[in-house]
Amino acid sequence: METTKWPAITGLVVGTILLAREIPTTFAFDKPVHTAILALLSCAGVLIGGSRLLPKGAGRAHSGANYDSLPLEEIGHAHASREPSPSPADASVPVSLRELRVIFLSLALAISLRILILRQLLLNTQCARLGWEPLIPFMFALWDYWTVQRHRKQAIQDNLDRSAYDDIDHHISQAPYRYLLASFLVGFGGLIALSASSGASSTVICSASLRNRWYLSVSQLAGTMLDIVILLCTSKLLNRQDRRGPSGTALRFASVGFAALLSIICLAFVGGIYYLIADYDRHWISTIHPHYLSSALKLNVLICLAMISAIVSVFHVGVLTTSMVTVFCAVSTLTTASTWTNSHPFPPSSSGLGLLAIFMMIIGFAAYFHVETSSEKSVFSIQKTFTKIPSWFYVLLLSLFVVRTGKWATHDNSMSYHPIDILMFEASAVHENYVNQTQSSRTLEEAVKNYEKRYGRHPPPNFNFWYSYATARNSVVIDDFDSIHRDLEPFYSLTPEEIRLRTWKLISNEWNNAAGLSIRNGEMTVSPIVPGTHRWMLDGVMDMIKPFVDKLPDMDLAFNINDEPRVVIPFEEAESINSVGSTKSNLNNKAPRPMFSGGRADQWKAIPETPLEDRVFTDLGGQRNFYTYSNAICSSDSAARSRREWDRAGMCTSCTHPQSLGAFLANWTTAADICHQPDMADLHGFFISPAAFKGTHNLYPIFSQSKVQGFNDILFPSPWNYKDKVKYDPNDEYPDRPFTEKNNTLFWRGTTSEGISKGGHKWNGMARQRFIHQANDASRTAPKQALLLPQSSEKNSKLNYEMVPAAKMKELMSADVRIVREIARCDGADCDEQFSNFSPLLEPSDFQIHWKFKYLLDLDGAGFSGRFLPFLESKSLPFKAALFREWWDDRVTAWQHFVPLDIRGHGTWATLAYFAGIEGEINGKDYKVEPHEREGQLIADRGREWAGQVLRKEDMEIYLFRLLLEWGRITDDARDTLGYKKYL
Ligand SMILES: *[C@@H]1O[C@H](CO)[C@@H](O)[C@H](O)[C@H]1NC(C)=O
Ligand SMILES: *[C@@H]1O[C@H](CO)[C@@H](O)[C@H](O)[C@H]1NC(C)=O
Repeated sequence: METTKWPAITGLVVGTILLAREIPTTFAFDKPVHTAILALLSCAGVLIGGSRLLPKGAGRAHSGANYDSLPLEEIGHAHASREPSPSPADASVPVSLRELRVIFLSLALAISLRILILRQLLLNTQCARLGWEPLIPFMFALWDYWTVQRHRKQAIQDNLDRSAYDDIDHHISQAPYRYLLASFLVGFGGLIALSASSGASSTVICSASLRNRWYLSVSQLAGTMLDIVILLCTSKLLNRQDRRGPSGTALRFASVGFAALLSIICLAFVGGIYYLIADYDRHWISTIHPHYLSSALKLNVLICLAMISAIVSVFHVGVLTTSMVTVFCAVSTLTTASTWTNSHPFPPSSSGLGLLAIFMMIIGFAAYFHVETSSEKSVFSIQKTFTKIPSWFYVLLLSLFVVRTGKWATHDNSMSYHPIDILMFEASAVHENYVNQTQSSRTLEEAVKNYEKRYGRHPPPNFNFWYSYATARNSVVIDDFDSIHRDLEPFYSLTPEEIRLRTWKLISNEWNNAAGLSIRNGEMTVSPIVPGTHRWMLDGVMDMIKPFVDKLPDMDLAFNINDEPRVVIPFEEAESINSVGSTKSNLNNKAPRPMFSGGRADQWKAIPETPLEDRVFTDLGGQRNFYTYSNAICSSDSAARSRREWDRAGMCTSCTHPQSLGAFLANWTTAADICHQPDMADLHGFFISPAAFKGTHNLYPIFSQSKVQGFNDILFPSPWNYKDKVKYDPNDEYPDRPFTEKNNTLFWRGTTSEGISKGGHKWNGMARQRFIHQANDASRTAPKQALLLPQSSEKNSKLNYEMVPAAKMKELMSADVRIVREIARCDGADCDEQFSNFSPLLEPSDFQIHWKFKYLLDLDGAGFSGRFLPFLESKSLPFKAALFREWWDDRVTAWQHFVPLDIRGHGTWATLAYFAGIEGEINGKDYKVEPHEREGQLIADRGREWAGQVLRKEDMEIYLFRLLLEWGRITDDARDTLGYKKYL
C-alpha cells in the first residue's frame, strides 16, 4: 500500500490539471446527472474492484508500529493530528459500527445532493458567482486549529546554538496557527486570482427575480459545504481506527465505493421521478447525442483518475494536504490558461492583482509543506508528504512564478489610437476597392469579359437584356455578383432534373412552408398552397419580377415563407458539392447556345391536387439546434463542433477575438462565421429556440430572404423592403433633421419575436432581450461593461479600458431601448418573468419617430431585420448587431455605411461612448470624452448616399433578374453548353 503514495499524489496533480483544462469546454455538463452517474459508477467500480486485488493483510502496518490497533495514549504523544476530528479525545476511540453507518449514509447523501446542486447551478450559470471552493483547505485548517492545535502545548526549548532565523522558523512551524496561515494564503490568493482573471461578463440575463439569485448564492455555499462533508466522510471511512488492523484496508476502500453506488441509486431515484413529472424534458433526458457521449467518456476518465488519486491521497496524507494540492493545481491552471487567452487589452484584466494573488498562493503552498515537514511526526493514520522537501518542488513553484511574472510584464492594457478611428480608415479603403472592382465594365463586351474572368463561364443567355436593364437604371454594381455565385455554385452538383424534382417536392406539401411560383411564357402564377398571411410576400416577388419576366425561361421557384433559413449542408459533403461547379467551366466552347432550351414547361411536374405527404424538412421549432443541427456546416475540428461553452456567465474571448479590435467589432464577415463561435449556441433565438425552423441537411433549392453564413439557402432581395412594409417616410410631424440636430440617444422599439420561450428561461440568452436588458438594467448586480477612456486629460492621451457599473453607464449615456405592446412568443412562467424584467411595456409608436434620434439600434428578429434599409436611408446612424445576412451583404461596408456591433453586446456602450461622448466621474476619476459627431455624421451620410445608389428597388430587381437568369441556366438540361456570347 505504501508504494501507492507517490503515484496517487502524481495522479492527483495530473488529473486536476487535465480536468481544469477540460471542464470549461466539455459537453458533459449538458446532462450533469447522467455524467455524474457515469463517473460515480466508474469510480465505484475501480474502488471495489481494486480493493479485491489488495492482498489481505496489506495495510499500512509496515510503515510504522501497529498504530491502528494501539490506543493513542499508549504511545504517549499528545494529539498531533492535522486530521480534523470532532474532539481531540475521540480520535483515539475506535469508531463504532453505528457511527460508521451514519458516516457511510452521510457520504452517499452528500454526494447525491452535491450533484443536484451542481445541476441547478449549470441551469443558471449566468447567475453564478465565484465559487468558495478554494477556501476548503482553510476550513479544514480552521477546524483543525479549533479542535486540536490550540489545545497543544508548545514545547519551548531554549537552545543557544540556534540562530534567530532558526528560532523564527521553529516558532512558526510549531505554532498552532501554522496550517491556518498557509491555507489562508492559498485559499484567499486563489479566490483573488480567479476573480482577477475572470475577464468580461457575458450579457446573458440573470433573471430579475431576486429569489432566484439569492437561492443560487446559497446553493453555491451549500455545495462547498457538501464538498467538505464528502471529504470528511471519505477520510473517516478510510482512516478509521477500528480494531481489525491492517486487514481492514481493503474494506475501507470498498466502503467508499459502496457509498458511491448508494448515491447512484439516490440520483437514479430522483431522476426517475423527475422523468415522470417533467414531460417536456422527457425527450431530452432519454436522448444521448454522440458529441455528448464522447465528451462525457473523456471527462469520465479524467474524473476517475483525479477521484481515485484523491481518495488514495486522503488515505496517505489526509484531507488537508489533498485539498491543498487540488486547489493549488486547479487555480494555477485555470488562471494561467486565462492569462494566456486574455493577453490583449480587452477584456481588461487586473494582471497585477492576479500576479500578487499567485504569489500569495505560491508562498502559502511552499510554507505549508515546509511546516508539515519540519513539525513533529504525525502520530496516527496520516503520514507526512515529504520527510525533506526536494529541490524540484521549489523549482516547479519558481517556474510557475517566472512564467506568470513574464506574462504580467509583457501585458500592456493601453493603446495609442481609438480602434474606431482605425476601423473607419480601413473601411473606406475596403469600400473603394469594392467599388473599383464592381464597376470596371463600361460596355457589354467588358461586362461579358469580366464575367468570364470572374466566374469561369459564359454569362447566361439573355445576359444582354440584363445588362441593358441594369445600365438603364444606372446600376453601380455591374460585375460583382459573387453572392449569387456563392449561393448557386453548389447546385451544379445536382442534375437539372433533380433540382426540378426537389423544387416540386418543396412546393407540393404545405407543411414545408415553401411557396411555389411558376413562370410560363412570361406569365406568373402562385401555387394554390400558399397561406393567405403570406400572400403579400409572393405579390412582392411578382412585382419585382414583372418588368423582366418575359426574359426568363419557364420554371418553378420555391420561396421560403418562414423568416428562418433552412438548408444546412454538413461540412463533409459541402466540400465535394462546392467543388463540382468549378469543374463545369464552358469557356472552351467558343459557340455556346445563346437560348434556353425549348420545351421546359413540360419538364416541371404539375402540383398535385392532393398535397404530398412527404416532408423534406426536420421540424426544429422551439429546439436548441446549434450543437444538434446547425453546427454541421463547420468542420469537425472547429470550435463549434468540439467545444461547448457552457459557462454563460463569462464572455468567450476566443469566440470574439477573430472579429474584434478590443471591444469593437472589426470584421463583419468573420463575425458571421459561427464556426469559431460556439458560445453563439446560447446567444441567439434562432439557435436557442426558433419559432419556426424547418431544416434539412440535403441540398434543397429554396429562396430565402436571409440566412446564417454557411447555410445553403439562395438569398433574394426581401419583398418586405420592396413592398415598403416599413418605409423611410419622414413627414412634418416627424421630420428627418440633420444629424447634429438629433437627439443624442440610442433608440430601439420592438417586441420579443426573435425566438419562442416556453419554459426553461430560454429568453434570457436571446439577442433582443439581452440588448434591451443591458440598456435598461441599472441594478447593483448588473455586470460591469467596458469603456475605453483616456488615461489623462491631455490631447492624444493613451487609452485604457475601464470596467464601469451598469448604473453609471445609464447616467453617462442615453439609451431608449424598449419593448412595445406585449411580450410575444412565450408561455407560462417565461411570460411573467419577461414581463417583470422588461416592464413597463410601451404603446407602439409611429415608425417615423426614429428620425428624432442620432443612433438607431438594429437587431435581428426571427430572421433579418426589415428596418435596416430605411435606417440606412435616413440621416440617423444605424448600429447593427446581426447573425443573419442578406443579399446586399457584399455591397455595404461596416464602419463605412453603418456601425457594426457584436451580437454579444459587450461593446455597445463603448461604441456609443465614442460617438455620443461622455462626461462625468467614473470609478472615482473624472473623465471627459468629446463626442465624435463628425465621424457619426460621416458614416450616416455615406450610408444614406450609398443606399440611394445600390439598395434602391431597381437594385433589388437587377439582383433578382440576374439571379433568375443564372437559375434558369442551372435548371436547364443543356446548362453546360448554354451561354451568352457577344459576336462582333
Ligand atoms: C481604384 O481604381 C483607380 C483607377 O484605376 C485607382 O487609381 C485606385 O488606386 C483604385 N483604388 C483601389 C482602392 O484599388
Ligand atoms: C475580414 O476577414 C476576412 C477573412 O479573414 C478577410 O478576408 C477580410 O479581408 C477581412 N475584412 C476586413 C474588412 O478586414
